[in-house]
Amino acid sequence: MELLFTGANGFLGRHLAAEAAVEGLRAIPWVRGEGHGAAESAPLEDDAAVRRALERRRPAAVLHLAARADVGACHADPAGAFAVNAELPERLARATAALGLRFVHVSTDMVFDGTQAPYAESAVPCPLSVYGRSKRAGEEAVLAAHPAALVVRLPLLFGDGLGLARGATEGLRRSLANGGTARLFRDERRSALHARDAARSLLALARTTSAGLLHVAARDAVSRYDLGLALAARYGWERERILSIAQAEVPSAEPRPSDLELDVRRALALGLALPTVRESVERDGARPR
Ligand SMILES: NC(=O)c1ccc[n+]([C@@H]2O[C@H](COP(=O)([O-])OP(=O)(O)OC[C@H]3O[C@@H](n4cnc5c(N)ncnc54)[C@H](OP(=O)(O)O)[C@@H]3O)[C@@H](O)[C@H]2O)c1
Repeated sequence: MELLFTGANGFLGRHLAAEAAVEGLRAIPWVRGEGHGAAESAPLEDDAAVRRALERRRPAAVLHLAARADVGACHADPAGAFAVNAELPERLARATAALGLRFVHVSTDMVFDGTQAPYAESAVPCPLSVYGRSKRAGEEAVLAAHPAALVVRLPLLFGDGLGLARGATEGLRRSLANGGTARLFRDERRSALHARDAARSLLALARTTSAGLLHVAARDAVSRYDLGLALAARYGWERERILSIAQAEVPSAEPRPSDLELDVRRALALGLALPTVRESVERDGARPR
């Protein structure tokens, strides 16, 4: 059984590749630019090339991770954000639907505004940022083009950046490097999850027929400040250098959601073993380099 996954060189994609290797799954990276070895390299913007690649490989599922996932970059280029986060998923959804292939699309808790937590899948999205709006547009486009697709909303992810300056752990590690301090919000709550736990869930879900929206996140939520303290305790970083601040202290081009706790009862009912935020931190064996 062969799975194809886009965004393979990204933060989550690297964790997904690592997790697939641990589980002995054949997960083929779908990369941008030149591909090496078994990797797929058909440009996602090229419908004919995408169709040829899917017809040739006939994967058991396509997991779509590729995105413009940087909130600031999306704010600076809304058209680009919608092209990558809404149009590309729609194209892939159409292509996979036409061939009867399973399609799992990755979205985000940032489709909510943070005022009505905890959010179940039935909650009405109300994104505050270009990133959130473009991801919401992607969700709608995917489910319209491929009603049997699964759209998985993930929370803030942490864990080793695996060579990238991405993820909450890497951000904290860099802030604390060379005696620095980290200023983290005490009034922003997230159901943060280790990227490895997210990857493991996506691989499991690729092998089901679940459709529609699904929240995959920690079973609870903590503030970014408390997440920072938990990571510091886990890796032996000095907690005194983690400072608690309020969102209002940091000017922001777009409003920031305050509480994005996700209700994960549907995922638990599907049998996913989702941890609490602290369990997800504790299960991380490796100290980030
Ligand atoms: N990180 C988080 O905390 C978080 C939280 C919730 C949801 N998510 C979602 O999880 C998914 C993965 O995020 P991430 O953190 O792994 O992002 P990332 O590290 O920025 O990786 C994004 C990947 O998408 C690829 N990509 C971007 N535009 C592309 C295009 N036009 N064609 C092909 N590939 C393209 C990039 O390719 P290159 O390597 O070639 O640039 C990169 O590999 C996204 O859907 C994101 O919205 C992430």
